[in-house]
Amino acid sequence: MPVEHEQLIEAAKKARQNAYAPYSNYFVGAAIVDDRGDIHTGCNVENAAYPEGNCAETNAIGAMVAAGGKRISVIAAVGGGDDLEFCTPCGGCRQSILEFSDENTRIILINEEGQIQKYSIDELLPLAFRLRQARL
Ligand code: THU
Repeated sequence: MPVEHEQLIEAAKKARQNAYAPYSNYFVGAAIVDDRGDIHTGCNVENAAYPEGNCAETNAIGAMVAAGGKRISVIAAVGGGDDLEFCTPCGGCRQSILEFSDENTRIILINEEGQIQKYSIDELLPLAFRLRQARL
């Protein structure tokens, strides 16, 4: 595993410790390496009005954009329960990841036991919706 990935996974685990998930008790951390090599993190933040809660990946993307990052090089997500399930990004997060991805972007998932899975956004979101007229 590249050293960069280890560092990213550590950053995602650290963010996960701050997850605010009193309703689901499902704690998720995410960390991004952007096109400049900078790291941005996020955790899930729930709300008593359930739909107002946000996922870890989406919050990490928001942090990246606010800091001036343009593309996701790698995004790592750490979550899951004791059953060792991987926290695969929800549908909305897949669309959000796509927005800042290219063919080289990698999505890394880590479960409670430290096992790792690696995907491209095309694998996670085939036939994705795209707006061709976006001016980037
Ligand atoms: N969650 C994430 O943060 N990322 C995902 O990819 C899936 C789900 C959060 C949302 C909610 O706070 C909790 O996990 C349970 O759904």
